[in-house]
Amino acid sequence: MFFEICTLFPSMFEGVFDDSIVKRSREKGLITIGITDIRDFAADRHRTADDYPYGGSAGMLLKPEPLAKAIRAGTAKHAQYNPKTILMTPQGEPLCHRVVEELQPEEALIIVCGRYKGIDERIRQHYIDREISIGDYVLSGGEIPAMVLIDAITRLLPEAIGCRDSAEKDSFYDGLLSPPQYTRPEEFEGLRVPEILLSGHHANIERWQKDQAQAITRKRRPDLWERYQHKDINTNDLP
Ligand code: ADE
Repeated sequence: MFFEICTLFPSMFEGVFDDSIVKRSREKGLITIGITDIRDFAADRHRTADDYPYGGSAGMLLKPEPLAKAIRAGTAKHAQYNPKTILMTPQGEPLCHRVVEELQPEEALIIVCGRYKGIDERIRQHYIDREISIGDYVLSGGEIPAMVLIDAITRLLPEAIGCRDSAEKDSFYDGLLSPPQYTRPEEFEGLRVPEILLSGHHANIERWQKDQAQAITRKRRPDLWERYQHKDINTNDLP
């Protein structure tokens, strides 16, 4: 899978994809991450990529021409895979497990990182296939949300994670939060690992884990619990 990130701040991505599952996935050739610097497509020697909004509101917007050129260049790099273009923005649909699953089969994604007050509306209309938000708060730009999206998609790629850290045991996979987990020692600061986990009885352990997952989800995330009970998991829609 190819990820092409269009950004004003390429250096923000240095290091973040050089560890753990994303690093291993790059080494195995499962994913390729490219960076397109929007300023490389600016027309002036100051490499200007932003401008004042019409109508006099505060803040700056990404100018349409350099951004359109950057998106076209990123798309051309992966044209044979018919890439979709995703804009990271607080106005987008909320990212959840279902959205990650929907994007995972794509062969190439162009990910546009907004900055400042956002982007010119005409870019949205002509170039953007889908808009995604990572939560109801405003970050300084779409770079960190792009990292979140790439990490979440990569985890779901077949072969990306070994059975040691299986995605199927993750929170949200079956619509529930994960149960509590323990590792050695058996006793730590006066707290013992629950006996059942030491019993070696796999069926009982699985039942305990499922009970715990249900209890935690019911208590902490009544919204997820409601959907789980309706077997309407992995969706943002209310049941
Ligand atoms: N850019 C700024 N804030 C964002 C958010 N919450 N999600 C996605 N992109 C963003």
